[in-house]
Amino acid sequence: MKILGIESSCDDTSVALLECSEQGHVILAQKTASQIDVHKQFGGVVPEVAGRLHAETIVPLVAEVLGDQKPDAIAVTSGPGLITGLVVGVEAARTLAAVWNIPIISTNHIAGHIHSVELEQEPITRFPALALVVSGGHTELVLMRDHDAFEMLGKTQDDAAGECFDKIAKLLGLPYPGGPQISRLAAAGNTAAIAFPRPMLTHDNFDFSFAGLKTAALYHLRNNPDANHNDFAASAEQAIIDVLVGKTVRAALQHSPVCVLLAGGVAANKKLRLALQAALAGLTPAITFLMPKPAYCMDNGAMIAAAGFWKARKKQFTPWQELQPDPNWRIA
Ligand code: KG4
Ligand code: ZN
Repeated sequence: MKILGIESSCDDTSVALLECSEQGHVILAQKTASQIDVHKQFGGVVPEVAGRLHAETIVPLVAEVLGDQKPDAIAVTSGPGLITGLVVGVEAARTLAAVWNIPIISTNHIAGHIHSVELEQEPITRFPALALVVSGGHTELVLMRDHDAFEMLGKTQDDAAGECFDKIAKLLGLPYPGGPQISRLAAAGNTAAIAFPRPMLTHDNFDFSFAGLKTAALYHLRNNPDANHNDFAASAEQAIIDVLVGKTVRAALQHSPVCVLLAGGVAANKKLRLALQAALAGLTPAITFLMPKPAYCMDNGAMIAAAGFWKARKKQFTPWQELQPDPNWRIA
């Protein structure tokens, strides 16, 4: 089944054409227009600017990806995300579906990140699976009972992990997005130099909180203006990783999933990938660990098509007349 995936929920307009099946998905084409260089000037994503840029780029991207091909269905991110961007992707999908008379698969952005592990890799086949989704807007532990059946175990009460990376980078005067910048500095730093808090690590639940860590970082810099930036970055990164890994391992012990997967923009963090893999390797019975290829950690149209496929297989389509963006769509 040929699925056109459309993603425009944040600061990337991304369109992909996939040949999807239960055996795996093949990416036939993908084009992404990143808006990062524009939003960098403002230190973060400006919704109105994002919406206008999505509107400018979406039609050329669809044309480039499709060439003279016609998909069998369109999977589009209808939420969660910025309404200014979602509305552009949703309207594009509605128009194409109406003109071509093909079905729409309304797709959740978080489900997309989860299914990004299937891109150029094996599909998820065994359940329950435990997913840690960490991005600029989300930090969630989700239990998957099927490809499209999710249970929310816990989530951040304030800032997302990626947002924490971004804000800590901003304190050092580094550009958006801050995650890769912090990792770069951290590589030459001492992770034990500063004893940053590990918020909620010992709480008996699967929720997260990163606002306090950001504030601790702010005060540390105020009180130590000459702090070594490498040590500062390494210590902050380690605090975030310790919390993410600690909570995920606890959830794995309690829910006994057959596999754990890591997804979202922060899943590009090498130290996090290694730390989670190492922590899970110590558990019995053995748990398979899945993560997306680095190229598919950030928002992309291919992951939306992949997630959409599992709904299409069950004929869970939305008529174009009824499709609406839902900025607050909860996966569960
Ligand atoms: O999933 P994504 O592309 O967009 C959202 O849905 O939010 O994630 C973007 C986030 C940003 O906060 C960025 O700083 C973070 O992912 N990120 C990283 C790394 N690469 C991207 N965080 C930590 N380490 C990285 N290497
Ligand atoms: Zn995302």
